Amino acid sequence: NEVKQIRVSLLEWYDESQRELPWRQRSESESDSGEEEKRAYGVWVSEIMLQQTRVQTVIEYYNRWMKKWPSIHHLSQASLEEVNEMWAGLGYYRRARFLLEGAKMIVDGGGGFPNTVSALLKVPGIGNYTAGAIASIAFKEAVPVVDGNVIRVLARLKSISANPKDSLTVKKFWKLAAQLVDPCWPGDFNQSLMELGATVCTPLNPSCVSCPVSGQCRVLSMSKHDSSVLVTDY
Ligand code: ADE
Repeated sequence: NEVKQIRVSLLEWYDESQRELPWRQRSESESDSGEEEKRAYGVWVSEIMLQQTRVQTVIEYYNRWMKKWPSIHHLSQASLEEVNEMWAGLGYYRRARFLLEGAKMIVDGGGGFPNTVSALLKVPGIGNYTAGAIASIAFKEAVPVVDGNVIRVLARLKSISANPKDSLTVKKFWKLAAQLVDPCWPGDFNQSLMELGATVCTPLNPSCVSCPVSGQCRVLSMSKHDSSVLVTDY
């Protein structure tokens, strides 16, 4: 059926076309829980940095951060001054403080890295987006992740009009993404949607010829009659 086809196409495309990013090292021993927690820490730091900052800028900050605090235990020992200094230039310093507070809370709790969306939502600074990203990418929980890129991709794929600033729209897309997420590879699936939105299904001039789901895209098929439908302002 169509959902399965979309999943397979996106996963295959992501496997071949994903950008090499420092927080995306493929882990060898997947079932190792220490390995998962390390991964979760890296996903957490990178996703928080990526929330208001471009990928190219984040790479450098991420590498410096991980060199100074390679694990959540290292981070939990840091001071607010050190963390702010490391964050200098990224803006929205609240994000750095939340990372530090969250690390202290998780380490002091002694129960390991929270590994479900509901447990992650209790950590300061972790909302639906970050919780979904960590749970799916690091712990393989079959939950969706929705950001502006995902909304644009799904809006085009299903030809749904969307205003990403409207909370009803956002709710609708979380629901849609939840139905679509691959139950076996939720992390790769979620990242494939974000990656597609960032590199192929761009706001202006999307590169539909290189899109793995162009065959299923409602808006692309409509655009054969009316080319203006592909242009979105988000
Ligand atoms: N933007 C934010 N997080 C991302 C991710 N994990 N993959 C691709 N783009 C992203």
